[in-house]
Amino acid sequence: MTETVVAVDGPAGSGKSSVSKAAAKRLDFAFLDTGAAYRALAWHVLESGANPEQATEVISSLGGFDYSIGTDPDGYAVHVSGTDVTESIREPRVSAAVSAVARVPEVRAHLTALFRSIIRDSDKAGIIVEGRDITTVVAPDATARILLTASEEARMSRRSAELATESASDVAIALQKRDRADSRVVDFMTAADGVVTVDSTNLNFDETVDAVLDVIRTSHET
Ligand code: CDP
Ligand code: CDP
Repeated sequence: MTETVVAVDGPAGSGKSSVSKAAAKRLDFAFLDTGAAYRALAWHVLESGANPEQATEVISSLGGFDYSIGTDPDGYAVHVSGTDVTESIREPRVSAAVSAVARVPEVRAHLTALFRSIIRDSDKAGIIVEGRDITTVVAPDATARILLTASEEARMSRRSAELATESASDVAIALQKRDRADSRVVDFMTAADGVVTVDSTNLNFDETVDAVLDVIRTSHET
């Protein structure tokens, strides 16, 4: 049974994955990237020739979705039916399809149940889980609940720096479109009751990790 559950939500490019992973390493906690699961399903839908915009086709694909995700922040990998998709789930075609897949209620229910079982079965003392609805739906009772934000400008420039092969304006347009679509399904721009906001706009990477670790430490003291 995992003792400490840390829930981290926020928009694309706020630093959720990289910061949560670094914080998990520092604490020797497990790490769960729930967005990677939604991306893996979107990849699977595309590979099987189904239409991500058609909820019925997405729901059918869910049946054959044999998925596994690592929770070791040092050796994190995602597999679908034995294929390592850790890199391919970051492709622009997957980013473009993922919101449509994630808005299907059956998909959310299926993956939420999966996330809860991963949290429950983790053999580490704690786990940091990041996504869009972790503080509100997946783990509303988490020990620490954090909304990681950053200005749209900061988020766009961080993402463009990562995706050097794509033009900055293409990255910005795709990111804004995805955030808009995702916001219609879950509210990850405002902190729910009891959720601590960490604004990383003017923090560098290490300062953001420290701010998240501070929230986790404080939550243990209260
Ligand atoms: O890393 P980035 O912020 O670009 O996205 P991600 O965390 O990899 O999530 C990919 C997509 O999965 C999001 O754009 C959402 O459509 C979906 N998602 C979700 O609906 N709920 C979550 N808890 C996590 C991700
Ligand atoms: O998971 P999410 O989409 O929220 O963001 P990410 O993929 O973890 O972070 C996007 C990029 O921003 C990464 O390259 C981080 O290293 C970088 N970052 C930064 O430059 N400064 C911060 N304060 C936080 C993250």
